[in-house]
Parts: sequence; C-alpha cells; structure tokens
Amino acid sequence: MKIVAIANQKGGVGKTTTSINLAAYLAKKGYKTLLIDMDPQGNCSSGIGVETPPNANIYHALTNSVNILDVIIPTPVENLFIAPSNMDLAGIEIELAQTGHNFKELRIQVHQEALMQYYDFCIIDTSPSLGILMTNALACSDEVLIPLQCEWFGLEGLTKIIQIIKKVQQQDNQFITKLGGIILTMYDSRTNLANQVKSEIQKYFPKECYKTFIPRNIKLSEAPSYGQCIFDYQSHSNGAKKYAELGEEFLKRQ
Ligand SMILES: Nc1ncnc2c1ncn2[C@@H]1O[C@H](COP(=O)(O)OP(=O)(O)OP(=O)(O)O)[C@@H](O)[C@H]1O
Ligand SMILES: [Mg+2]
Repeated sequence: MKIVAIANQKGGVGKTTTSINLAAYLAKKGYKTLLIDMDPQGNCSSGIGVETPPNANIYHALTNSVNILDVIIPTPVENLFIAPSNMDLAGIEIELAQTGHNFKELRIQVHQEALMQYYDFCIIDTSPSLGILMTNALACSDEVLIPLQCEWFGLEGLTKIIQIIKKVQQQDNQFITKLGGIILTMYDSRTNLANQVKSEIQKYFPKECYKTFIPRNIKLSEAPSYGQCIFDYQSHSNGAKKYAELGEEFLKRQ
C-alpha cells in the first residue's frame, strides 16, 4: 500500500477537495483505496457522504481504544473506504502530547499487516495546522502532496511545510516521507498573479510541480454538499475532467 498525505497548513487551499476526488478516482479505477480524515472539521467524511460514528472514529484509533480496522467504513463509492473523524479529534493534540510516541500513533495503526495488504492506496486528508495531527500524518506517509492556491501567501507557506517535512524525516529513520508533488488549485489562467505563481513554482520545483492544474470550478464546490465525489456529482464537468487527469498523472508518477 502506498500512503499519501495531502497537506498544507494554510486553510482552504483544496486539501479536502483533492483528497476526496483523487481517492475516488483511484477507487473507480479499481484500486482498493482508504481515505483517512485527520481533520476535526470532518469535511472529508461528510463530503464523501458518510456519517461519523460517535464511538468508533479516527479519534478512537489514535487514542488506541479501538483498532483502526474497526473504525473504517465503506463510502458510497465502490472500493473507497474511510476512517472518518469529527470534532472529538480537536482535543487530541493535548492528549497525544502527554504520551511518549505522539508522532507515531497513526503510523502504528496504519502500518498493520492486514491493512497494508488489503488496500492499494491510502490518502490522508489533514487539517490546516502544523500540530501533532499533521506530524502524525507526515510520519505515517510515503509521500506528501501539497495543494497550493495560486496566490502570493501560498508561496510563503510552502517553505514552512517543506521545513516540517525535513524535520519529520530527521525525527526517526522509519519516517521516509518525501515531497511527492505540488498541485496548483483554483487556478485561473486569466489572472497575472496565478500565472506568476505558476512560473515561480515551476522554476523552483520543476520535478515536483504537477503538470495538471486544477481550475476553479463551481461543480467542485457544490459536490460535497451532496456527499458526492465530482465523478458521481457531475461527471462531465471540467472539475471531473481535471481531477481525472490529476489521477492519471499521480498513477504515472508511482
Ligand atoms: N477547484 C475548485 N474550484 C472551486 N471551488 C473549490 C475548488 N477547490 C476547492 N473549492 C472550494 O473551496 C473551499 C476550500 O476547499 P477545501 O475544503 O478543499 O480546502 P481545504 O484546504 O481542505 O480547507 P481546510 O484547510 O479548511 O481543511 C471549499 O468550499 C471547496 O468546495
Ligand atoms: Mg479540509
């Protein structure tokens, strides 16, 4: 199983939209895919149309009261499963800070033989912060994909998250995560700023920058309120076309 964290400490850049639609694309291609919602906002869970069980969700797996295998539930998309979350997760930073292995909890749960063998891909949606939840996601993953909105502050945040990835690598030699790619989101080719940001990213990260850009597309913002991925909500939309392109590029890079 390949484990991919979708991360950026900046809020509202398209992490959840990318997690849901990349995971759904892989599942629709026939790959057994697991989504992990590591955000107390629970947008990934509701966005793919599942209701988070109050007594068995990712919070309980991270605090070791339930095995993650008993937390994973199916989604409306065939081959796509999720370890869902809710607001309970908000208090976990303090709880995990008190235990010794606070970076490794997610890793210990996910790196179980039964889980690793059953799934082909695991996509982890993270919250907009640099705390213990994000560090757990990075420590668990093989690679990180960074969605980046085409605006100037986006570039400043990028340096920070790359530093965090390096720090996680130095923590423990089990942590092998690397920067797998940067995905430009909500891209509007008509604005100068979007084009400037794009050329900066391509200049400094020629290998990491995905060739596929995700444009602004209203259907992408509507789909989660129906609890659907873009392919089920509006399969002919430009959003669906671009996320399919992104999925293909992702597979080619593996
Ligand atoms: N390509 C797009 N076109 C139009 N709207 C989009 C697009 N991508 C995301 N959105 C919308 O922008 C908002 C933020 O997106 P999303 O929730 O994916 O970001 P996020 O990085 O997960 O946010 P947070 O940091 O709060 O978790 C949402 O309302 C979403 O529906
Ligand atoms: Mg989100």
